[in-house]
Amino acid sequence: MMNTSKNNRLFSPIQLGATGLKHRVVMAPLTRSRSLQPGSIPGDLMLEYYTQRTSDGGLIISEAAQLSLGTSGWQGAPGMYSDAQIDGWKTIVDAVHAKGGYIFAQLWHPGRFSHASLTGGAMPVSASVDPEYWQNPSRLISTPNGWMQPSPHRALEKSEILGVLEEYGKAVKRVRSAGFDGVEVHAGNGYLIDQFLQDGSNKRTDEYGGSIDAWANDRVGVRITPSGTFNAMADSDPEALHAHVAEGLNRFGLAYLHIIEPRMSGYLLIKEDQPPLATRRARQVFKGNIIANGGFEPDSAAAAIEQGDADAISLGRYFVSNPDLPRRIREGLPLAAYDRDTFYTFEAKGYIDYPFYNSAVDAGDLVTARV
Ligand SMILES: Cc1cc2nc3c(=O)[nH]c(=O)nc-3n(C[C@H](O)[C@H](O)[C@H](O)COP(=O)(O)O)c2cc1C
Repeated sequence: MMNTSKNNRLFSPIQLGATGLKHRVVMAPLTRSRSLQPGSIPGDLMLEYYTQRTSDGGLIISEAAQLSLGTSGWQGAPGMYSDAQIDGWKTIVDAVHAKGGYIFAQLWHPGRFSHASLTGGAMPVSASVDPEYWQNPSRLISTPNGWMQPSPHRALEKSEILGVLEEYGKAVKRVRSAGFDGVEVHAGNGYLIDQFLQDGSNKRTDEYGGSIDAWANDRVGVRITPSGTFNAMADSDPEALHAHVAEGLNRFGLAYLHIIEPRMSGYLLIKEDQPPLATRRARQVFKGNIIANGGFEPDSAAAAIEQGDADAISLGRYFVSNPDLPRRIREGLPLAAYDRDTFYTFEAKGYIDYPFYNSAVDAGDLVTARV
């Protein structure tokens, strides 16, 4: 059983900017490809999925939502740009609020991680051009025609960059109109902002070379991946870069900084025994709340809070397979195993059919959390 004194702080309240939570087990953003097509509209399946995963006073960060058709990067990922999408999101947000939960929307510009069949024919954009990125046969994206290598991309013109920021601005307005509690800017995992941040992908010589500008308030979180290598990312000095980013974000008074540990590569844990290094480093320079993510188990989540490494912990894969994850952790119950094969399929199977603990009848499907 979970050591309850260790667990106390994981289940103590925390104020993240304007949002007051009753506990610190956060649902990490998870792309699950179940929006209605055509139109990338959140529908009944998504409503059921998010409702299932809502806990009283708990925070959900939505799956990555696309800013516009032209910036789409994944078949089945929902959008944040059409009226029908906003109506769909509203229903979900209302259901989360009705169960006492909170939900931030994650906004996502995939940059070069895209395919012209997803964008209405538009060529993907990035900070600089790197043909190796689209030529590598091991890099695949879910498209309307199955898994495909990304399309060739081009570098954003300097004059276009303001337009991208405007797209973010419009999407934030839509997030607000759908009733979300806040917004998370995805600046990690090798997507557009990360492509601008790191010099492995940013070879620009203009003022956008190697640096970004951000905007924020107490309903904005930012997600970064310090020293992460997922999605072909590299920087010549990742520690200095991300210390600089974390320090630079201090002046915005963010709701939180969300850090993915480098022991993760996408959804694979690549360094089992590595402690939460990136979170500890950021703690030294970032003055606000930190949500740590990546490879946490119930016991290591409790320990990270107890030791003061982070203020909250987000979990991804365990939320896929445990709709009642906060309760299971709080009560030291076994956790159900997830099925990777249905992460990115398009139906109810592997999405809304993971049982709540009380209805779990087959103990053979359960893995006991290492507590
Ligand atoms: C199926 C799946 C989809 C994901 N989609 C997103 C996403 O939309 N946005 C994001 O920032 N991270 C995404 N991630 C990464 C997770 O948020 C998280 O960083 C990762 O799963 C590590 O946390 P964990 O060890 O608790 O699973 C995804 C991960 C998985 C498994």
